[in-house]
Amino acid sequence: MSPVVELEHPLVKHYLGILRDKDTPPHIFRDQIRRLTLLLAYEATRSLPLENIEVETPLCKTTCAQIVSRIGLVPILRAGLGMCEAVQELIPAAEVWHLGFYRDEDTLQPVEYYQKFSEHPPETAFVLDPMLATGGSAIEGINMVRKWGVTNVSMLCTIAAPEGIDKVQQAHPDVPIFACAIDDHLNEKAYIVPGLGDAGDRIFNTL
Ligand code: PRP
Ligand code: URA
Repeated sequence: MSPVVELEHPLVKHYLGILRDKDTPPHIFRDQIRRLTLLLAYEATRSLPLENIEVETPLCKTTCAQIVSRIGLVPILRAGLGMCEAVQELIPAAEVWHLGFYRDEDTLQPVEYYQKFSEHPPETAFVLDPMLATGGSAIEGINMVRKWGVTNVSMLCTIAAPEGIDKVQQAHPDVPIFACAIDDHLNEKAYIVPGLGDAGDRIFNTL
């Protein structure tokens, strides 16, 4: 079973406090998602494969390293878009491949409305979605990325519910999950508690 990594860092806890506050306005909310995603991506990219390269400094030649694999970021629309630029900041050459799902309010099942994949999948993909609640959207997103042919897939989320983590691990035991926080439970409407409410609405100011 791949690991579930919950970030334990004072900065993460600080940003999460601002993010969860119902009175935080959208622009500050987006700032916290961005900062948290930078820290999450730092952790999630620890095992990226490297190759040696020769670099000439002003003093001498030396051996350095560079990332070798093609990396795809797969933000799940809408809320995953809020995470994407932060990862691009760390990996400027990353490719971005969008997936659109919304969660049907009655069935809680993810409904696909957009997919943009090419013929040639990258070797590595990071699926981005701030909220992992029931796990339905993450499982379907990872299914599609796998079907596309990506071998090395990781799931990055800001807040995850234990119920959703269990489901994703059952469906995709080889996919590591990185979360800034693992919360307590889902409520009767499958919202994460304590959570932060509706991530997409708070990012895009559509409450
Ligand atoms: C939210 C969130 C996830 C999904 C999580 O999206 O961004 O994609 O719900 O729930 P699940 O784990 O139970 O599938 P939503 O459907 O609200 O769409 P939005 O991003 O467009 O607001
Ligand atoms: N989607 C969200 O945006 N928030 C939740 O708490 C659950 C699903």
